[in-house]
Amino acid sequence: MRTVILRDFGGPDVLRLAETPAPEPGPGQVRIAVEAVSVGFAQTQMRQERFPAPMWRPTLPVVLGGDVVGVIDRLGPGVAAAAGAPRIGDRVGVFVLHGGYAERVVADIGGLVPIPADLDPAVATLLPGTGPIAAGLLDIGRLQPGESVLVHAAAGGIGHVALQLARRAGAGLIVATAGSPAKREFARSLGADVVVDYTQDGWPDRVRAATGGRGVDLILDGVGGNLLRAGVGLLAPLGRLVYYGSSDGGLDVPSISTMDLIGLKFVTGFALSAWRAARPTQFQAGLADLTAALRTGGVTCEVHARLPLSGAAEGHRIVESRAYRGRVVLLPSLPDADTGGRDHPRGPVLGEAAGSSAGR
Ligand SMILES: NC(=O)c1ccc[n+]([C@@H]2O[C@H](COP(=O)([O-])OP(=O)(O)OC[C@H]3O[C@@H](n4cnc5c(N)ncnc54)[C@H](OP(=O)(O)O)[C@@H]3O)[C@@H](O)[C@H]2O)c1
Repeated sequence: MRTVILRDFGGPDVLRLAETPAPEPGPGQVRIAVEAVSVGFAQTQMRQERFPAPMWRPTLPVVLGGDVVGVIDRLGPGVAAAAGAPRIGDRVGVFVLHGGYAERVVADIGGLVPIPADLDPAVATLLPGTGPIAAGLLDIGRLQPGESVLVHAAAGGIGHVALQLARRAGAGLIVATAGSPAKREFARSLGADVVVDYTQDGWPDRVRAATGGRGVDLILDGVGGNLLRAGVGLLAPLGRLVYYGSSDGGLDVPSISTMDLIGLKFVTGFALSAWRAARPTQFQAGLADLTAALRTGGVTCEVHARLPLSGAAEGHRIVESRAYRGRVVLLPSLPDADTGGRDHPRGPVLGEAAGSSAGR
């Protein structure tokens, strides 16, 4: 099968197309024929050895992962006997840390989510991880109807869904930040009341002014760095900040003083796996709501680029450029060196066919 292997940390071109044996599912696992896999910001940090969370940093060689959508084509030993077990032919999604940039991937059955047959595969990549993360941020942030919300990087993969879900949940004022005029316009089109350029000095003043000086009830922060420290200062009394990533900081994980919280401010971290384990009912409810909303148009998923596996390096370049809205997706069925659509200009061809280890 075709796979994209990372053998060295570095720039996008270290992602190399290779021919490898298809993986075999073990006990409690299935194998999925991959229709689509997302290229997330976290994977660009992993590729550069700059991922902030030590427990999830890859060791080489590795096949990077993401939000996978596909069809089960093989069951691991004993899987068929389990009650409610997945079956060959089921269309499923799963967030995998490793192995997703490939034509086949194995996954634990506990992580699978159902994918409706009528959903476009690139759009459906929202369902395993990115969409539930957005739902989880609002759950852990205890958003109440009428409350104000600040969504950072609101045109990004997670941000553009969180913004829409906040609107659906009855948020009051929604302030969105983004780094370019096109992204801010996009955030406005998704329901933001106020858009702010957080690359400009003084941006916190503009957010505070938008709230009439009171501060923000809920802040969703996947950017970190100085932004997080400024965010704590922007919280209203009883306000909550949910920190879920460091797209600005990389290895420079932000720290704050407990003294900053003394004005009845709450700061918490968020990881999808922890939320799914701690709040399974809320995870399932969020997933069901999101699935229905995607099918009816209540939530839209912006797919900026659809690329073949050979376009993995180009996908990483796009994500690192920050010049995209929504998400970037690899579709193994697209012919290599052909973008297969009008979303994005033709990407480069990766010439190598290494044909060695599966990198898993
Ligand atoms: N906690 C979890 O369970 C979990 C799971 C997956 C991902 N994450 C994290 O969630 C965050 C968002 O992920 P995503 O895939 O949806 O990414 P994304 O928002 O599509 O991309 C990251 C965005 O961060 C903004 N940004 C601000 N400062 C930046 C800088 N110095 N360099 C690059 N980008 C910068 C950029 O938006 P502007 O151009 O608008 O500034 C960029 O587009 C990431 O930090 C990711 O690691 C968390």
